[in-house]
Amino acid sequence: MATPAAELRFAILASGRGSNADALMDGFESGLIPATLALVVANVAGAQVLEKAARRGYKAATVPHKGKSREAHEAEVLRLLADQGIDHLLLAGYMRILSPEFLKAFGGAVLNIHPALLPDFPGLHAARRQWEAQRKVVGATVHFVDAGVDTGPIILQGSIVATGDEDAERLEARIRTEVEHVIYPRAVRLFLDRGGRPAPTEGR
Ligand code: GRF
Repeated sequence: MATPAAELRFAILASGRGSNADALMDGFESGLIPATLALVVANVAGAQVLEKAARRGYKAATVPHKGKSREAHEAEVLRLLADQGIDHLLLAGYMRILSPEFLKAFGGAVLNIHPALLPDFPGLHAARRQWEAQRKVVGATVHFVDAGVDTGPIILQGSIVATGDEDAERLEARIRTEVEHVIYPRAVRLFLDRGGRPAPTEGR
């Protein structure tokens, strides 16, 4: 029998500032996401996200990747996630590529937020590249993580219109606050409403 959504345990994986993690925490606390946020993990000691999580009373842990092989680091993260009984992962600015083996451990149910309207602008600095390309309509995407870079099936996208007189930093900030922080919690809700099932195999 499927686990009721309210009993599902999520972990957030992040590397830095943690503004999306903050928005997700709001989502868990308001009931928009009817599940438990059981753990926040960072791969960088002192990452702002750790303090944000701890301040709000969440269990927060650092598993540094420096000096370790990908395999050894992932094994350590997986052990921690298993210890905490984590069902699903939310990547929020997690600057590590996850191996297919790691993803398999979560049955494909790993979500990520990307600051562009995929499939356009996959990879790094996507928000800035939208600005450089002078896109009028810019946005962000929540998608399932697969073995590629930002190639997994899309769950939800949101967009805004660039005014044309913002600098790159301002446009990045608008994408983050006006789109990412709004769509990520909603995408998690959508994922749960659809039965918390992993990605459809047909892709997009
Ligand atoms: C966001 O722009 C997100 O889309 C990308 O990394 C950034 C993380 O920002 N994957 P924050 O740490 O959530 O503030």
